[in-house]
Amino acid sequence: MLDDLAALAANDPSGMLDAVLGLAAQVRDGYREGLGAVDLPAGDGVTAVAVCGMGGSGVSGDIVRALYRDRLTLPVTVAKGPVLPAFCGKDTLVLLSSYSGNTAETLACFEQATHWGCRVVAVTSGGELARRAAEQGVPTVPVPTGFQPRAAVGHLTFGVLGALEAMGVVPTLEEEVDHVATVLERVRNRIGPEVPESENRAKRLARAIGDRFPVLWGADGVGSVAAARWRTELNENAKVPAFSAALPELDHNEVVGWAAGTGERFVLLTLRHTGEHADVAERFPPSVEVALSSGMLHEEVRADGDSPLAALMSLVMLGGAVSVYLAAARGVDPTPIDAITRIKKALEG
Ligand code: F6R
Repeated sequence: MLDDLAALAANDPSGMLDAVLGLAAQVRDGYREGLGAVDLPAGDGVTAVAVCGMGGSGVSGDIVRALYRDRLTLPVTVAKGPVLPAFCGKDTLVLLSSYSGNTAETLACFEQATHWGCRVVAVTSGGELARRAAEQGVPTVPVPTGFQPRAAVGHLTFGVLGALEAMGVVPTLEEEVDHVATVLERVRNRIGPEVPESENRAKRLARAIGDRFPVLWGADGVGSVAAARWRTELNENAKVPAFSAALPELDHNEVVGWAAGTGERFVLLTLRHTGEHADVAERFPPSVEVALSSGMLHEEVRADGDSPLAALMSLVMLGGAVSVYLAAARGVDPTPIDAITRIKKALEG
């Protein structure tokens, strides 16, 4: 069925696969929007950066933090809840990332950031965040409407990166953005719906997951952000429970849980890239051995691209495609997220 284009399209009436595979254009557009955002705060004297956002919008913060932790002397923190860290003040740059602009936690951080006199930037397609930002003179990086938040990851992430560059907080990313987009175009051509399963890594991985529960492992940093992103894409698009963890930390706890027989309903996907720290890379084989001895199946996935950002974004695109193909194999529409909507509604009152 994964090679039947009509059946794939019928299973995905809102076009999630197209959005996932359109990441290269999002990367270029998002970067341009971020760079061109008007009236951004001054970057001089910024002592810390906080990116606030939940779910598909919060991943932009995870990406920025993983990318810059060994390159920026500024601390980058990611707030995934209604509370801004107490160190935030007038020299903290706070970016609020919410696709819809209506996420309660992100709005709560917006209120704290403006109240505390932080340097604030909103990254959103509209909603209450855009309204409040306009009312209070807070600059906005505009994100186009018409996406599911998780499928707008390129707009949101590169909107944040472009704005950071425009404020002088990070060095220019122009060449890097070009490289990332080129890598993503190449990946797209190898995993699109028209490429048969026999040659299509994303379809083959969806098939390998099958009825098992996916467990994602990645190296601390880029690899672990990719693993978490695969988990959430598999949750939201394929509607399956999934679990993610990072090496080396999981070698100090999780491995003990994979005792004989416990892995029989699971499949381990290790997300690897060339930039892994050598000490962490050498942990994969013995850790995978433990997983295999629990009865888990294992697939290794290698990132494309020569830079950490290209590797991460190539894994983001591949994981998105795997999740949509798995949705097709399971006969579920990838777009609806009823449980999220139900919880948001229940808390609206
Ligand atoms: C939906 C999705 C969710 C949302 C989250 C926050 O596609 O991925 O995780 O991203 O509920 O909503 P926004 O992104 O609108 O702030």
